[in-house]
Amino acid sequence: MRISFAILGLMLLPAASVMPEQPLKLTPMPSLSLAGEALYSNHCARCHGDDLGGAVNWRTPNADGTRKPRPLNVLGMTWRRPDVDLIAYIKLGSAGIFGDESYGTGAMPAFQNVLSDAEVGAVLDYIKSTWPEGVRESQARLNGRS
Ligand code: HEC
Repeated sequence: MRISFAILGLMLLPAASVMPEQPLKLTPMPSLSLAGEALYSNHCARCHGDDLGGAVNWRTPNADGTRKPRPLNVLGMTWRRPDVDLIAYIKLGSAGIFGDESYGTGAMPAFQNVLSDAEVGAVLDYIKSTWPEGVRESQARLNGRS
């Protein structure tokens, strides 16, 4: 009986030494989404709106041909793009994406020298957190294909 308890103890040992690491992996997530919301307020809300609703009449271009800030919430088209496109959009801005400097004024600025990769990820996570679960799943499937 004493031997089998010793064996049981040995079997439990590796599991016990792995377990304390699990909470460490999970704790950064809430602070990351809070950081994403703060980053959104500081860098994106002035154009895309506090509610992520974009500009009024966002489908109609400005008089100079530049496009208006699009909604990033579920009413826009953002969720129909894979992460790789959205990250490129945020880092490179309209001019970087479309290769046309004329988009530079009044359009989407490039954030590659403003936000770190982790911050871009945090903002994107915040944007996604406003989408209904089914929409998040549908966008996640696009990532599998990209
Ligand atoms: C100066 C205004 C402005 C700011 C600030 C801004 N954007 Fe934009 N954004 C735009 C405009 C305008 C467009 C549409 C541009 C185009 O298509 O040429 C756009 C497009 C986008 C798109 C593509 C959306 C889609 O559905 O295709 C994403 C994603 C985006 N912005 C995210 C962000 C994030 C995240 C931030 C903050 C880090 C941000 N934007 C800050 C103006 C802005």
